[in-house]
Amino acid sequence: MKKYFLKIYGCQMNVSDAERIFGWYEGKNWEKAKTEKEANEIVIVTCSVRQTAEDRVYGLVNNLGKLKKQRSNLKIILTGCMLRYPLKWLKEKMPMVDEFKKISDFTQKTKPIHQKKIQAFVPIMEGCNQFCSYCVVPYARGREKSRSFTEIICEIKELVKRGYLEITLLGQNVNSYGKDLKDKEHSFANLLTEIHKIENLKKISFLTSNPWDLTDEIITAISLPKVDRYLHLPVQSGDDDILKMMNRHYTVTDYLKLIDKIKKKIPNIKIGTDIIVGFPGETDKQFQNTLNLCKKVRFVKAYVSMYSPRLGTAAFKLDDNVSHQEKRLRWKIIDGLIN
Ligand code: SAH
Ligand code: SF4
Ligand code: F3S
Repeated sequence: MKKYFLKIYGCQMNVSDAERIFGWYEGKNWEKAKTEKEANEIVIVTCSVRQTAEDRVYGLVNNLGKLKKQRSNLKIILTGCMLRYPLKWLKEKMPMVDEFKKISDFTQKTKPIHQKKIQAFVPIMEGCNQFCSYCVVPYARGREKSRSFTEIICEIKELVKRGYLEITLLGQNVNSYGKDLKDKEHSFANLLTEIHKIENLKKISFLTSNPWDLTDEIITAISLPKVDRYLHLPVQSGDDDILKMMNRHYTVTDYLKLIDKIKKKIPNIKIGTDIIVGFPGETDKQFQNTLNLCKKVRFVKAYVSMYSPRLGTAAFKLDDNVSHQEKRLRWKIIDGLIN
């Protein structure tokens, strides 16, 4: 029996995509290999969000290239967000890769094989229309495209029948769910409300919400009892000028007001966030503003990233002028405060 091995980088979207790739191979009757060494095909699900994520992929491909020299029948397939680069460039950069394959080549009409028994990821939309100036996701995953409302409900009902108790809805900006659908009733707030009615489902989580289009309707839906009391609300920076340069459509005051409103409606809610330190031009003072915001909000968790210039994004043309040493220092301070 032929064997495959998956190496997954990046966010939960990639984990969810990988679950469909598992389904694709199982559909062909392939078996999951325990290690790279016994696989006939190795699929690398890549992330492009920071340079370090890409560097890990280059490192792995190099090592697998050595393995390939011993085993000429080994096939290396690369998929995921790094396919945003021109194919010619990728081929030159990684000649040991046999095939560059779009995620959709695996995932269309494929049933996912969920990796856990109790909790399952359910993608509700693809892509992003926000174009934050530092971010590759809109280029890597295209424009926002919502899955059908009924399809999502059916998938979750099916999962619950199979014994799943918790689901995590996935999308780059779940607040936008349904904006591209014909039926205006098919909004994120209504989706949550409908899912909430499913009997025997115990917990609903979702990733990720943006701070600027989290409507009152959505907050009301989040207050329903089965919805997770952890809300991930990336702020990225606590300085208005940096937020503007990041193309994030809110000010610090807007963000704090929103948190207040959410906490009033759902008193036991816990808030987590994403923060970027060392965005081009970020001064000490502006960094202090971020620190102050963190002290005010008292996040329970933060994913802190050092700014990484990404080719193709709007911020790429800005001077990446905060030194690596300074970025590390700022990273340590915020991470130490929150995590
Ligand atoms: N859709 C989600 C997350 C997308 S990427 C959202 O909007 O919040 C995940 C996180 O990676 C971002 O929240 C950001 O903090 C970080 N990130 C994205 N691009 C980055 C870059 N160029 N440099 C450093 N961190 C980055
Ligand atoms: Fe990237 Fe911004 Fe879209 Fe999030 S909302 S995926 S940070 S462009
Ligand atoms: Fe996720 Fe990385 Fe792509 S964060 S959407 S896997 S660029």
